[in-house]
Amino acid sequence: MSNSGTIKNVLIIGAGGNLGPSILTALLSEPKFVVTVLSRESSTSTFPSAAQVIKIPSYDDKAALIKAFTGQDAVINVVAGSVSRAAQNRIADAAAEAGVKRYIPNEFGSETRNPAAWALLPIFEDKYLQTKHAADLAEKHPGFTWTSVITGGFFDWGLKVGFYRFDLKQHTASIIDSGNAQATVTTLARIGDSIVSILLHPAETANRYIYTQSFNYTQNELLAALEKHTNAKWTVTHANSDELIKSGKAALAKGDFSGFQDIILAYNHGDEAHANHEKGVAESRAILGLPKQDLDTVLKEVLKA
Ligand SMILES: NC(=O)c1ccc[n+]([C@@H]2O[C@H](COP(=O)([O-])OP(=O)(O)OC[C@H]3O[C@@H](n4cnc5c(N)ncnc54)[C@H](OP(=O)(O)O)[C@@H]3O)[C@@H](O)[C@H]2O)c1
Repeated sequence: MSNSGTIKNVLIIGAGGNLGPSILTALLSEPKFVVTVLSRESSTSTFPSAAQVIKIPSYDDKAALIKAFTGQDAVINVVAGSVSRAAQNRIADAAAEAGVKRYIPNEFGSETRNPAAWALLPIFEDKYLQTKHAADLAEKHPGFTWTSVITGGFFDWGLKVGFYRFDLKQHTASIIDSGNAQATVTTLARIGDSIVSILLHPAETANRYIYTQSFNYTQNELLAALEKHTNAKWTVTHANSDELIKSGKAALAKGDFSGFQDIILAYNHGDEAHANHEKGVAESRAILGLPKQDLDTVLKEVLKA
């Protein structure tokens, strides 16, 4: 890497989306980094002037990617999850060929090393295979390394956009199964801070998954906290995870994207508790060195915003 194994030049792709701005803000606040954004010529995203911006016609243009990545120590891929695996893998290929030392694949969600999950949603297998592709590249390209980041749900984003089916305006909530399953979640800002910490600890974070966390919560805890902070009794409906998976699959088969949400919610909040990443989080916490956050404090900030 730049000097004595440190990461200095960092490039982020997809910095104008839902997650990207928080990572970009965190990168720009770390004086050790020189930060570049890669964006498409057609993009309407704008970026802080502290970041250098490179525009290319398309992320499918491998030669343009290699040119943009040359001289970068780290490349962070945060393009839309809907971009094809072939295109995502092309970004990784270009990073390896350009001599990038650390590549962060586009995971940023659920634990994807679970074949049972692949049968539920192809995006789980897709993301797993993107990390596997990066790991295969690391075998072939000495000096190329990867870190995949498992974040669980984006807590503040999910609440604001209504993804969790807790409606902050109408004071309604849909609780899945018992509502007692633990789910690991991370705020956008905490993901940004985690990426910075990963890049500041390149040896400890090489060629492995890192789990981020703001806190774990259950739907019942979230409901109680929301009722306390809004000083209102919320209207609650109940849903069953098996039924949600069934209806989600039927909706997706008809091209209705809400089916995706049904399945993710059932997977994350159903009583099987697939989204409790506590074990991975405990190992990663020692490396990242970021303090635990708590539901109450973060929720107050989300409600204020
Ligand atoms: N765990 C969670 O709760 C959660 C929630 C949301 C997202 N995610 C994950 O977070 C990652 C980033 O998602 P996001 O929601 O931040 O992405 P996004 O906002 O949909 O898009 C990010 C950037 O990708 C580029 N982009 C968008 N559409 C594109 C296309 N069709 N072709 C090429 N580039 C395109 C754009 O960058 P330019 O315009 O600059 O080129 C855009 O600003 C994904 O892996 C996603 O699955 C996880």
